[in-house]
Amino acid sequence: MKTSDIHSFAEYEKTYQISIAQPEAFWAEQAEKLTWQKKWDKVLEWDFVEPNIQWFVNGKINITENCLDRHLDKKGDKVALIWEPNDPDEKCIQYTFKELHAEVGKMANVLKNNGVKKGDRVCLYMPMIPELAISIMACARIGAPHSVVFAGFSSQALVGRVEDTKAKVVLTSDGAYRGTKTIPIKTVVDEAVLSCPLVDKIIVVQRTGEDVNMQPDRDVYLHDELKKVNAICPPEAMDAEDALFILYTSGSTGKPKGVVHTTGGYSVFVDYTFRNVFQMEEDDIYWCTADIGWVTGHSYLVYGPLIAGATTVMFEGVPTYPNSGRFWDVIDKYKITHFYTAPTAIRALMAAGEEIVKPYSLASLRVLGSVGEPINEEAWQWYNKNIGKEKCPIVDTWWQTETGGIMISSLAGVTPCFPTMAAYPLPGIQPVLMDKDGNEITDNEVEGYLCIKFPWPGMLRTTYGDHERFKKTYFSAYKGKYFSGDGARRDSRGLYRIIGRVDDVINVSGHRFGTAEIENAINQNIKIVESAVVGYPHDIKGQGIYAYVILTHDAENESIENVKTMINETIIKEIGHIAKPDKVQIVKDLPKTRSGKIMRRILRKIAENEISNVGDTSSLLNPQVVEDIIQGRV
Ligand code: PRX
Repeated sequence: MKTSDIHSFAEYEKTYQISIAQPEAFWAEQAEKLTWQKKWDKVLEWDFVEPNIQWFVNGKINITENCLDRHLDKKGDKVALIWEPNDPDEKCIQYTFKELHAEVGKMANVLKNNGVKKGDRVCLYMPMIPELAISIMACARIGAPHSVVFAGFSSQALVGRVEDTKAKVVLTSDGAYRGTKTIPIKTVVDEAVLSCPLVDKIIVVQRTGEDVNMQPDRDVYLHDELKKVNAICPPEAMDAEDALFILYTSGSTGKPKGVVHTTGGYSVFVDYTFRNVFQMEEDDIYWCTADIGWVTGHSYLVYGPLIAGATTVMFEGVPTYPNSGRFWDVIDKYKITHFYTAPTAIRALMAAGEEIVKPYSLASLRVLGSVGEPINEEAWQWYNKNIGKEKCPIVDTWWQTETGGIMISSLAGVTPCFPTMAAYPLPGIQPVLMDKDGNEITDNEVEGYLCIKFPWPGMLRTTYGDHERFKKTYFSAYKGKYFSGDGARRDSRGLYRIIGRVDDVINVSGHRFGTAEIENAINQNIKIVESAVVGYPHDIKGQGIYAYVILTHDAENESIENVKTMINETIIKEIGHIAKPDKVQIVKDLPKTRSGKIMRRILRKIAENEISNVGDTSSLLNPQVVEDIIQGRV
């Protein structure tokens, strides 16, 4: 029995029409499917100019009651979470809904004992261990907004995020296993909190067992704290519009912003989109490979599947350990039916060759998914042929940290899938394409800036501590519309293909970085005067980072290798390994307009190797630099 609402193309079309004609009635109907402690007075209040968005006004709900408690009667003994460790020889851990409910209750009581109260922000800097999934739900249980920071970010990046939320409690682990490596985690937190005086408690999960510095009165081990609590923790009654979590994401400016999601609308949206996009049946096993440090892990590893009562798989390791067959091995091991991953992973595994896939059956698979960046035709075809064996629909799901959940996607097996196309807007979602003058393009066979013209329950409500920035970033480019920052094409059938970012955001392996953020980091290096960073097409990562740098007079004779090393060191310190540039070019000057603005358009063309087509350079202050940069390109 399918858990979805839409089972045929005709039903999709009909539902879509209804959802647009009567969005409030449509979303109220979806909200009714969840357990509320108090029903809402009004479905929606909104204003995209202010902007102010409220869904299910005055409703009271706890998301964990929906993820856990309400399944206990009928599915208490069903497996809710399967955890696959980094080392395939280590024992996996499975939690039934009953067990997960108890673990979340205990963890919630640990948080309470350590001074966390409703409304307090809690920062989580953890690897992919079950305690991470349990902790985010424990926070939600007691009404403490969680802020997960991907454990690949540096201590400096962690400082910025902890400071911004003013979290007093940080959850972490001693270390992390990733492939062959053991990575220190607690030491990163130790270094960060030196600059975060508000942090007075660090709760440490023992994962690798290595010695870590434990500061008396501040640092406690989770296993000691768990001895002091029981599993009973009633779900806090949260207002539908109370914050559920904050998640930092990069934009066009230097400082990442804290995207705020609230409780009621987010719960309804991730439940509805999960059930209808993936079309699962009761005994299916679903695996999303995303890290919980990113939004996909929040919405479609933890909350969406658990609200829907599905079995969800969490993986600690990397796709290439012990070899590039690991994903396929895990699929066979658990008889995964639904597999959701990123194009960058598909391309990396494709590069490892078809031979590696051959020994695996993959016969359990029924639905494949893609998320995080545009999937190129070659990767789509490879995924379809070698993994899906040409019998699994591929849902190419377009969405963003800000949207909370899937916005444009085929519904698996219900609406058709087309290579490289996200295709159909989900019911309740009203995408529009805008031209550069701010007019809506109503025809088909067009390209434009992708906006959404009506609110949806899962959308962000603000950027933490800075509502003006929220307004400026998302609602000022096109008046009265949410601007995604993406460009898209609508074909003759009205289906969407996402082209990619049109702002100064680079999507590296599905992870967003602002060019300004990377430049700020590079410029921290005392041997660098100025830098400009652009994205360029990269075979595996989707986009690579190309950095043009001007050295100080003293550093002029440094070799390119030394310059790269020092830039990498700076980036690793300021942001983390994931933001290291792929290419570095030393330049004497950067092309600038007369007002001093760097002409990134030209730098992008050079990085893309489109040197015959760099465009008009006559308006530059220093047109002669362009030829020098072309000559020196890498
Ligand atoms: O450019 C789009 C791209 O990823 C951006 C959002 O990144 P983030 O907030 O990190 O969330 C990623 C996971 C939802 C978008 O602005 N993107 C995401 N999914 C797709 C995509 N581009 C094309 N096709 C997709 N399916």
